[in-house]
Amino acid sequence: MKLCVTGGAGFIGSNFIYYMQKHHPEYEILNLDLLTYAGNLESLKEAEASPNYRFVRGDIADTALVTGLFEKERFDIVVNFAAESHVDRAVLDPSVFVRTNVLGTQVLLDAARTFGVKRFHQVSTDEVYGDLPLDRPDLFFTETSPLHTSSPYSAAKAGADLLVLAYHRTFGLPVTISRCSNNYGPYQFPEKLIPLMILRALKDEPLPVYGTGENVRDWLYVDDHCAAIDLILQKGTPGEVYNIGGHNEYTNLSVVKTILQELKKPESLISFVSDRPGHDRRYAIDPAKITKELGWKPSETFTHGIHKTVRWYVEHSDWWQHILSEEYSRYIEVMYGSR
Ligand code: NAD
Ligand code: TYD
Repeated sequence: MKLCVTGGAGFIGSNFIYYMQKHHPEYEILNLDLLTYAGNLESLKEAEASPNYRFVRGDIADTALVTGLFEKERFDIVVNFAAESHVDRAVLDPSVFVRTNVLGTQVLLDAARTFGVKRFHQVSTDEVYGDLPLDRPDLFFTETSPLHTSSPYSAAKAGADLLVLAYHRTFGLPVTISRCSNNYGPYQFPEKLIPLMILRALKDEPLPVYGTGENVRDWLYVDDHCAAIDLILQKGTPGEVYNIGGHNEYTNLSVVKTILQELKKPESLISFVSDRPGHDRRYAIDPAKITKELGWKPSETFTHGIHKTVRWYVEHSDWWQHILSEEYSRYIEVMYGSR
């Protein structure tokens, strides 16, 4: 099998490459990644040791590059992780989100259609469903929940999902889509809640909690997401959408307090700052379809997963030290300077 992983130098993509190397060592994997601020080849050092792994730097929205690559490589499977993925950055500049997440997906779909693939898998997000109220714990997102986005990030992801489904209906392209809840684990860029808070706590810096910290996210250890995508590739039905989540709902405040406990740091580091514009209140996935139809269930608990993740960041300062560059400092200043 020849597998093209786009965005493989990012958080979930790199974990997915390791997962596939472990479970399908015979697969030939080509990682197509633009190496934006979020892409980091340091995350793939051990993957590079395999003769079945290659890296190509390139933009998924570059038609000539993508067409040439697909013509030459004739992939069996494409898994599209490449995206602008951070809601706060989408507030600062929506345009690159539309370019990469919508146009980039369409360029990949056209190449997949022209040169034929056995499967095009789109890695989407639960954020396409919008949010749920905090006082209705009985409500969950199912695959038939309406798309009702809040941020330019989720709107662009929803646009891509609709295109993927249209290529199935119109052109018969064998597509699948997964919509997963918030991931955490090794190699996550420290702009997202969990790694940002771990690194700031390690440096005894204030932990910026938006609003009251009562917003709820549904957390999944990244390997459980990778296992679900692999299962969809092996057993999923073309044209179908699968929600992925493990019923691990926590308020942001309780996640931050857990991190502080893990690091034995005081809660006085918590600093409530002004809220994110349009801040989604609660995400909660109903994973019944993937559980019943494909037999997926998560293997990691949040308590153990967060413990492992905190330890990973403590033990891998070499990985995150160089990320804390000038660009990162500028971003932190723009995002939190005046809050
Ligand atoms: P990330 O930001 O860590 O990584 C994105 C990767 O895409 C980076 O390596 C970046 O260099 C690459 N990229 C960006 N623009 C590109 C372009 N134009 N061409 C080629 N490569 C490009 O993101 P992540 O957290 O690993 O998320 C991966 C995917 O999973 C995204 O599609 C995201 O929407 C989805 N997702 C993420 C989560 C989560 O909690 N992180 C949850 C559900 C779904
Ligand atoms: P994030 O990791 O950006 O993921 P998403 O917005 O895609 O769910 O944020 C997770 C939650 O944490 C979200 O409710 C916003 C909140 N948050 C903070 O309170 N402070 C922060 O500095 C960040 C980055 C996020």
